[in-house]
Amino acid sequence: MEDALLKLKNEAAGDLAAIASAGDLEPFRIKYFGRKSPFTRLMRQLGDAPAADRPRLGKLANELKKELQRQFEEKKASLSRQGMAEGADIDLTLPGRTTPQGKLHPVTQIMEEICGIFEGLGFTVAEGPDIETDFYNFEALNIPAHHPARDMHDTFYVDDSILLRTHTSPMQARVMETKEPPLRVIAPGKVYRCDSDITHTPMFHQVEGFLVDSDVSFADLKGVLSVFIAKMFDESTPIRFRPSFFPFTEPSAEVDIGCVMCNSKGCRVCKQTGWLEILGAGMIDPEVFKKVDYDPEVYSGFAFGLGVERIAMLKYGINDIRLYYENDLRFLRQF
Ligand code: PHE
Repeated sequence: MEDALLKLKNEAAGDLAAIASAGDLEPFRIKYFGRKSPFTRLMRQLGDAPAADRPRLGKLANELKKELQRQFEEKKASLSRQGMAEGADIDLTLPGRTTPQGKLHPVTQIMEEICGIFEGLGFTVAEGPDIETDFYNFEALNIPAHHPARDMHDTFYVDDSILLRTHTSPMQARVMETKEPPLRVIAPGKVYRCDSDITHTPMFHQVEGFLVDSDVSFADLKGVLSVFIAKMFDESTPIRFRPSFFPFTEPSAEVDIGCVMCNSKGCRVCKQTGWLEILGAGMIDPEVFKKVDYDPEVYSGFAFGLGVERIAMLKYGINDIRLYYENDLRFLRQF
């Protein structure tokens, strides 16, 4: 019996040493620790041994088994460490870890769409500073100090002559100052006004557009804006030009489209008029040309400025402008 135990010990040690991969572990476990293992057999034979020897032999067999189990666990652990290092036991069927994917803000999406339409019409994109001088924001646009039009702008001043631009129109003078006609330019960007309610946020976006050449007429302005509205909304969207006033355009107009919420029938959004204002426009005032040394006898041009948030609200049926800037993912994910 004792010899049999020793033989078993040696054999098990050999088998254990021969294990080279995780796949060999299970057959070893079944062989030595399963129901039909040599230990089970030996324990049964214990009954045949002389009574005096039985406790000693039983203890020996148990110790042997315990020691073998310990060595087996050690082997298993070392194989698993090795496997991880080699990348062998990686479970390729596990699902990958996903990183949440962001996307463009709805205002950015619409701004890109607007710019894309005008780029298709041959306009190039220009960008300028958000922090602007009084000169470009007002003076160059025929809005001198104390002009009543300044009141409409709710300007954030940095100091007496520096401010946050209240519209993208300063880009007209900035571009004209450095380039000669013909010009076809759009200038998208942020603008700021001290105003906040369901239709106003202190920061919002505009896209300015202007075209300067010899012989530009109001018909050209109507043509370009009609194409834009047909592409942005629908071929059948009604459009009207309403006389208006801006110090830097003459004549000036505000452009309305048929209310997209009620199909021009009249509702709360269009205040029962059936129309929604979407942009300001006009023929560039000769005074503006003079400020940038263009000869108003030679050149003419048109300009327009549109509010991006407003267009996105109409297109998506959003009823509160502040939703854009609350960063609520439930809102943002819908676009
Ligand atoms: N800058 C004007 C505004 O913010 C819009 C405008 C731009 C009007 C160009 C005419 C021409 O209200």
